[in-house]
Amino acid sequence: MSQTLDGPGLLRDNPEPETRETPAEGLPLRPGVLDKCDRFTKAEELREVGLYPYFRIIESAQDTEVMIEGKPMLMLGSNSYMGLTNDPRIKEAAIEATRLYGTGCAGSRFLNGTLNIHIELEEQIAAYLEKDAALVFTTGYQTNLGVISALVGREDNVFIDRTDHASIVDGARLGFGKTLKFMHNDVEDLDRLLGNSPARGKMIVVDGIYSMEGDIAKLPDIVRVAKKHRAAVFVDDAHAVGVLGKLGNGTADHFNLTDSVDIIGGTFSKSLASIGGYVAADSAVIDYLKHHARALIFSASMAPACVAATRRALEIIIAEPERRALLWRTTHFMLKGLREIGFDTGE
Ligand SMILES: Cc1ncc(COP(=O)(O)O)c(C=O)c1O
Repeated sequence: MSQTLDGPGLLRDNPEPETRETPAEGLPLRPGVLDKCDRFTKAEELREVGLYPYFRIIESAQDTEVMIEGKPMLMLGSNSYMGLTNDPRIKEAAIEATRLYGTGCAGSRFLNGTLNIHIELEEQIAAYLEKDAALVFTTGYQTNLGVISALVGREDNVFIDRTDHASIVDGARLGFGKTLKFMHNDVEDLDRLLGNSPARGKMIVVDGIYSMEGDIAKLPDIVRVAKKHRAAVFVDDAHAVGVLGKLGNGTADHFNLTDSVDIIGGTFSKSLASIGGYVAADSAVIDYLKHHARALIFSASMAPACVAATRRALEIIIAEPERRALLWRTTHFMLKGLREIGFDTGE
């Protein structure tokens, strides 16, 4: 989900009353901080009229068809772009890793939680994205928190697209530098903000493919203005890995700009059929992040089953380009059909 959400939660909260009600006599005084929970009625109102769309319970594996309330349903809302979340080869790899390494790492990468398969996965990711080095986090969300907050220091500015993923917004919030938002995919607006910024350190963060809009970052123009203002470019390719590029290796490769994009990040929870996150960059950046990204240092590392599943998924994505071809055929089929029945599908 991107930032089309209302405030910190998903549904708008009822406004805070001018004065607090005093509880009826005999009732305990509830801690004031919990008042907002009592005032939050939107979800219940939607449940009552049968329109509540969240937390749907699925009773089967994530696949093109899933079981909900005992009925088979078409899954149109999944991020499993390569259709690999229920692949027997990947499930087998996860089971084998569990047998070998157990179910968890019981510690962070920094201390006791680095296994040889974490390092092998990092080498695989770096080679796939054609960067010097990579670092694996426990989720994509944590990757953005860790990378952005570690790199954007007090004196720096971070420039984010208005529709960037919530984890980018939160990473920017967590950093000590100032955040500036530019209009969605509007490189002139970005150029203007960069030009007005007195900061010496500047970083632009964009999604490669925007999950809600479905459009692609205008990377050639972004890279051009980044060079003009000596800004670093960080592309979150959560939705582009598997999907764009020669081997599915993302937006930078799609535009032939791998060398001009300083940092590529993403998640294993979409095309890569698992859970976890990564960042790839030059060795100095990765070594800095290893020792400064608090979301890496203070959180337990990716579970062995997830690491092994990701490694196998990556091999399959590279070896089976027909999966990408099928995704694009399906995408064009859906787009054509939706347009024909009158939907505005944007760009
Ligand atoms: C662009 C983008 N970045 C990061 C994330 C977070 O990834 P994860 O699910 O691994 O936390 C997502 C997932 O929704 C995403 O769409």
